[in-house]
Amino acid sequence: QEALPEGYKCRPLQRSDYKSGFLDVLRVLTTVGDISEAQWNERYEWMSQRGDQYYLLVIVDESRPVETQIVGTGALLVERKFIHNLGMVGHIEDIAVAKDQQGKKLGLRIIQALDQVAEQVGCYKAILDCSEANEGFYVKCGYRRAGLEMAHYY
Ligand code: ACO
Repeated sequence: QEALPEGYKCRPLQRSDYKSGFLDVLRVLTTVGDISEAQWNERYEWMSQRGDQYYLLVIVDESRPVETQIVGTGALLVERKFIHNLGMVGHIEDIAVAKDQQGKKLGLRIIQALDQVAEQVGCYKAILDCSEANEGFYVKCGYRRAGLEMAHYY
């Protein structure tokens, strides 16, 4: 994998990232809502107890003030199956790069890092849903159109 820009690092999400701008980066993707620190801690704890299923990565720019250090994020969920000889499928979710940091290949690096985790843990494929507007980005990341998304909202 190629390097991130000077001063940027990719690492797993940490509990302390409540105060590092993680939720603000997710706001470029969709509605996040007002999440209290207690709620954050509860969800973080739940995910970290399932550390072999939830892989959340962040990219930090260490030259920025700590409250805004997180500039990108992405998640991999590892689904265990019966089919394909107890196969595992990686689900790429919630990829976001801060508006003023887009176009620096940070999104690409996040996908590459998540792909590496998926392959390492033994997934036979990784899949994701995206809008038509983002298709070109994922093609650049090595993904190709496969199937059709359907949703049932409750
Ligand atoms: N359409 C076509 N090509 C694109 C697009 C796009 N929408 N976005 C980036 N690219 C290209 C870049 O030009 C670059 O090409 P190059 O290698 O020829 O220079 C390559 O893809 C890699 O781009 P990055 O610089 O890594 O992209 P960036 O860091 O800006 O991240 C992302 C892309 C994540 C889509 C970002 O724009 C973003 O956060 N958007 C808002 C949130 C969002 O839509 N997230 C994805 C939701 S889908 C999901 O989460 C599964």
